[in-house]
Amino acid sequence: MKILITGGAGFIGSHVVRLFVNKYPSYQIYNLDKLTYAGNLANLTDVEDRENYTFLKGDIVDAVFVEDIFSEHKFDAVIHLAAESHVDRSIADPLAFVQTNVIGTVNLLNTAKKHWAENLQNHLFYHISTDEVYGSLGEDGLFTEETPYDPRSPYSASKASSDHFVRAWFHTYGLPIKISNCSNNYGPNHFPEKLIPLAINNIKNERPVPVYGKGENVRDWLYVLDHARAIDVIFHKGKVGDTYNIGGVNEWKNLDLIELLCDQMDQKLGREQGHSRNLITFVKDRAGHDLRYAIDSSKLMDELGWKPSVTFEEGLSKTVDWYLENTEWLENVTSGHYRDYYEEQYTNR
Ligand code: NAD
Ligand code: DAU
Repeated sequence: MKILITGGAGFIGSHVVRLFVNKYPSYQIYNLDKLTYAGNLANLTDVEDRENYTFLKGDIVDAVFVEDIFSEHKFDAVIHLAAESHVDRSIADPLAFVQTNVIGTVNLLNTAKKHWAENLQNHLFYHISTDEVYGSLGEDGLFTEETPYDPRSPYSASKASSDHFVRAWFHTYGLPIKISNCSNNYGPNHFPEKLIPLAINNIKNERPVPVYGKGENVRDWLYVLDHARAIDVIFHKGKVGDTYNIGGVNEWKNLDLIELLCDQMDQKLGREQGHSRNLITFVKDRAGHDLRYAIDSSKLMDELGWKPSVTFEEGLSKTVDWYLENTEWLENVTSGHYRDYYEEQYTNR
């Protein structure tokens, strides 16, 4: 089987690529990535020379490029993760999110439909989405697969739009699709603009840790390898046309989470308990900041047998250890040197 994974140089995509390359040696895995600021091929050094792995540098918005790679490689399936993913950036530059998340997705759908027309049923377009499409919860309740869409940031509006387009290609053209909507991921290789890796980096360097508003917003955190395992299960066993919610059953108020992180890091760095909590700095709130996300994953758990493999305390501890050990990765990302990796390692191959 030939699988095109888009966005495989990013945070979640790199874990999905690694899992598929290692677990399924008979599959050919193609990683299509534009290498935006969020794409980092150093996330994949351990699999880059494997025979069942190929990197394709390109833009999902570029119709000619996407047509060419479908013609050349004759993919059986697509797992689509490429996206602009950061809410704060979407508030500053919404159009980039429309381009990649909406137009890029429609471009992939159109090309897949065209190339798979003669035997659609033997193919699959699996779209990776977010719980943010469902909007914001109050104190109670959980997002289910039936929760009406109510996106409220430019990022979530672009992801909701892409979900609608994927379902439209299923209903209108019969393209076999699956969609999953996941809660907040954390773990190794997370770009340090997002809350947890940003806080780890700042605590390590004794810099202020910015907490938006009063730190009362709630997120449901899932270890990234558990998301990759869920994607594997849904890809192989999920029902065509269906949606699956993925979450950690693990709600944390931002401030509580940052305090836990400070305490874990004080212990690991041999600092006096309470030391790093002094770095917490309340800053201006995010515009339109969604109060609470929480996922009901019972469909995925009951029908497909998936469940998270680590508790939050374990996952967070492993994540902190990874950042403390992989200082070169973090330094290359924060200095911008990671952007040279493609030129240095790939252009003379
Ligand atoms: P990320 O920002 O770390 O990675 C995105 C990847 O897509 C990068 O490698 C980037 O270079 C690539 N990319 C961006 N625009 C592209 C384009 N036009 N053409 C080709 N490649 C392009 O994102 P992530 O956090 O790994 O998220 C991956 C997917 O999972 C996204 O679709 C996101 O919406 C979804 N998701 C993320 C989370 C989360 O907590 N991070 C949770 C649920 C769903
Ligand atoms: O819910 C899934 C989504 O989770 C994904 O679809 C997105 O791609 C991913 O980026 C993430 O979105 P969030 O906006 O929830 O993640 P972020 O890490 O940016 O913020 C987490 C919470 O922490 C949120 O309430 C905002 C807050 N925050 C964030 C940053 C960067 C802070 O308080 N301080 C910060 O510096």
